[in-house]
Amino acid sequence: MTAYGRPGGYAELAVADVSSLHRIPTGLGYEAAVTMVVTGTTAIGLLDIAELTSGDVVLVTSAAGGIGRLVVQFARRLGATVIGAAGGPAKAAAVRELGANLAVDYNLPDWAGTVRDALGGRGVTVVLDGVEGDKGRAAFGLLAEGGRYITIGAASRDEFRPEEAQLKERGVRFTDALALLLEGQDAAVDEARALAEAAAGNLVPAFQTFPLSQAATAHAALQARATTGKIVLVPDA
Ligand SMILES: NC(=O)c1ccc[n+]([C@@H]2O[C@H](COP(=O)([O-])OP(=O)(O)OC[C@H]3O[C@@H](n4cnc5c(N)ncnc54)[C@H](OP(=O)(O)O)[C@@H]3O)[C@@H](O)[C@H]2O)c1
Repeated sequence: MTAYGRPGGYAELAVADVSSLHRIPTGLGYEAAVTMVVTGTTAIGLLDIAELTSGDVVLVTSAAGGIGRLVVQFARRLGATVIGAAGGPAKAAAVRELGANLAVDYNLPDWAGTVRDALGGRGVTVVLDGVEGDKGRAAFGLLAEGGRYITIGAASRDEFRPEEAQLKERGVRFTDALALLLEGQDAAVDEARALAEAAAGNLVPAFQTFPLSQAATAHAALQARATTGKIVLVPDA
């Protein structure tokens, strides 16, 4: 198993440095392993940065997605209060099944109001966002004073960066986790940790498979937001 990390991965065979290889733990399937070695590694890095505690009220966006699912599972195991927001009723139901205390469909216009009402006036202490844009902005608006907004990327392709004055006024901290991970993550160590967490059953990755020959269909499904969990391309027999 390797995180290829460069062009050429859409192939039946690829050459990798021996030093980049991990042994797939016993009992973990190829698809789960490939999900963990990339997405799981990012999720673990994000969680290290977030330093969640059982007292946190955590709002996770694209909570039915690859990273979102792992983060929801981790935060629930920790005992934090978890609100998962995802696009559409089916994804919200999937987030509920993961054990989130509240799952909302953020395609509905007043999803933030639903969260606010459910919390009975309490704010969110941590937002873990991977969408940014309008969804990130609305999630940021739900933070309590002293809260933290942590982003891992802009799946919406619409970057959201709160202004300094806004952060000061609200007493909220902004963290670009993606930039921190790109600078300093020890990928080899965290890849091994991600595989071990899945092998131990602590984090259960979700994936959908497509044959490699249908990679374009897989990309179209991802772009249409019709997938949950990660997409794994399987070389045709
Ligand atoms: N996987 C990694 O290793 C990795 C590494 C670095 C950074 N990131 C970043 O982390 C974030 C989440 O990544 P992921 O791998 O877990 O992805 P993912 O959740 O498996 O897929 C992306 C999800 O983003 C949401 N989304 C919102 N607006 C979208 C749009 N305009 N087009 C497509 N999707 C949209 C969709 O969920 P809803 O329908 O629920 O909104 C979609 O399912 C992304 O910003 C990604 O760039 C990921």
